[in-house]
Parts: sequence; structure tokens; C-alpha cells
Amino acid sequence: MKILITGASSGLGEELARQYATKDNELILLARREDKLFKLRSEVFERAKSVEVVVADVTLFDELQVKIDKIGHVDMVILNAGISVGHSSKITPIADFKNLYDVNLTANHAILEILLPKFQEQKSGKIVFISSLASLISMPSSKAYSSSKRALNAYAEGIRYKYKKDGIKVINILPGFIQSEMTDKNSFHMPFLLNTVDGVKKIKKAIEKEKRIYAFPLRFYLIILLLNTLPHFLREMIVNSIYK
Ligand SMILES: NC(=O)c1ccc[n+]([C@@H]2O[C@H](COP(=O)([O-])OP(=O)(O)OC[C@H]3O[C@@H](n4cnc5c(N)ncnc54)[C@H](OP(=O)(O)O)[C@@H]3O)[C@@H](O)[C@H]2O)c1
Repeated sequence: MKILITGASSGLGEELARQYATKDNELILLARREDKLFKLRSEVFERAKSVEVVVADVTLFDELQVKIDKIGHVDMVILNAGISVGHSSKITPIADFKNLYDVNLTANHAILEILLPKFQEQKSGKIVFISSLASLISMPSSKAYSSSKRALNAYAEGIRYKYKKDGIKVINILPGFIQSEMTDKNSFHMPFLLNTVDGVKKIKKAIEKEKRIYAFPLRFYLIILLLNTLPHFLREMIVNSIYK
């Protein structure tokens, strides 16, 4: 299987590359940090069928699309590249807000604009979105991130409905906290934090089972679902008591 992983230079993407590095798989690792991608390539090279590195900034859409087109045939794309703007009580500057949406949402469309016609022609293809449990509840300190991931959910849902008839599978993963460069920056307590290897094992299993939506860890997901059933005034009280 030929697998394109975006955001493969650290965190979940890096670990996904490790776990998909088997003799059956041809890996394409995409991110900006060339040194990290080549280091990972040398680590997994012998275990995989092949490993290609694509150095790209996903927000430079024109260049990105040329690079994606050059890859040719792809069986599965894991749209994992993502950023947060940190957890601050300050208003997010517009440039940071726009960049966040470019990476977390728009870049995925830029990639799929190129890949979807190929998948349609192949009559197959798997698209894996990496959303977040944060898409289900918007915390006061992460409005930009939560909203970008909620928009991603809506986008993934539409893509799933539209391309089912073409044999294209859409899997949307909603992880809770997993150890990575992104979460290493958080100074607050992260409930149900998973280590990277275990978190990615769960993601890989959900992809193998072709789950439409996979939200985890289950206990964290259930708490959020429960919160979302409460009347708004009560939810507001609880959220504001957690995030003072
Ligand atoms: N860790 C968690 O708890 C958690 C929970 C829910 C969802 N997620 C999601 O999981 C995904 C991976 O995050 P992570 O936790 O593994 O964070 P991470 O370690 O910070 O990794 C982010 C990856 O995205 C890439 N990236 C960022 N901006 C890019 C750009 N402009 N162009 C190309 N690549 C870019 C980074 O590579 P370069 O810097 O080399 O470009 C890096 O490889 C994200 O979508 C995140 O929202 C994470």
C-alpha cells in the first residue's frame, strides 16, 4: 500500500510512519523539517518497501499541489499535519488564526483537490483525517483550534457522503491528548494523556477497521458527550469552572 503521511516529522505522524513501516508499504513522508524527515527515513527504511521524503509547507498551496501531483498513485493519505496556537486567554492575532486554518483545514482540501480525481479513477482510496476531541467541545482557551477541527469534521463528513459511490473510504480520527511536540508545550494537566506509541496503535487499528469516526480515549469521549447533553447554562458553568 502506498501511504502519504502529512506532518510526518514529529509526534503522531512520525509514529504513524514507524508503525506503517512494513515490507508491504511504500511510505511518503511530508513536512517542512527536512532533517527530521530524513532521520526518520533512515530509521524506517529497511523495514518498509520504500520511503520517499517530500519537503513541503502545506500552507504554500500552489507548490504543495505540484508536489502532491508528482507523487502519482496513492492508496491512502493520512492528513495529519496540524498546529495549535497554544492555550492563551489572549485574543488570537489574525495572522496566527489564518495560518491555523490554512494548516488544519484548507491544506487538506488543497491535497484532496489533487488526490480525489485520482482516487475516483482508481475506484479506491482511503482518506484519514486527524481531527480532535477538541472539535466536540470548544474550550475558552482553544477556540481557534477547536473551531478549525470542528470545520474539519464537517468537511470529512461531506467528503464521505459524496465519494462513497467511488469506493473511497473516509476515516475521521478524534484523539484526546497524546504525547507529542504539540502537547509537550501544554503546562496544564491533560486528562487521560496517552503515550505516542499507544495512541498511534489505536489510530492504526481504527484505520484498519475502517471506522467512519473514531474518538478516543473512550472515557474522555464519554465525558464530553455527557457534557454536550447538558443544558447550555449548566455546560457554561462547568466549563468556566474548569478554565478560570
Ligand atoms: N497530540 C495530541 O494530543 C493531539 C490530539 C488531537 C489531535 N491531534 C492532531 O494530531 C495531528 C498531529 O499533531 P501532533 O500532536 O503529532 O503535533 P506535532 O508533534 O506538533 O506534529 C505536527 C506535524 O505537523 C507538521 N506541520 C505543521 N505545520 C506544517 C506546515 N505548515 N507544513 C507542513 N507540515 C506542517 C509538523 O512538521 P514540520 O514542523 O516539520 O513542518 C509536524 O510534523 C495534528 O493535526 C493535531 O491537531 C493531536
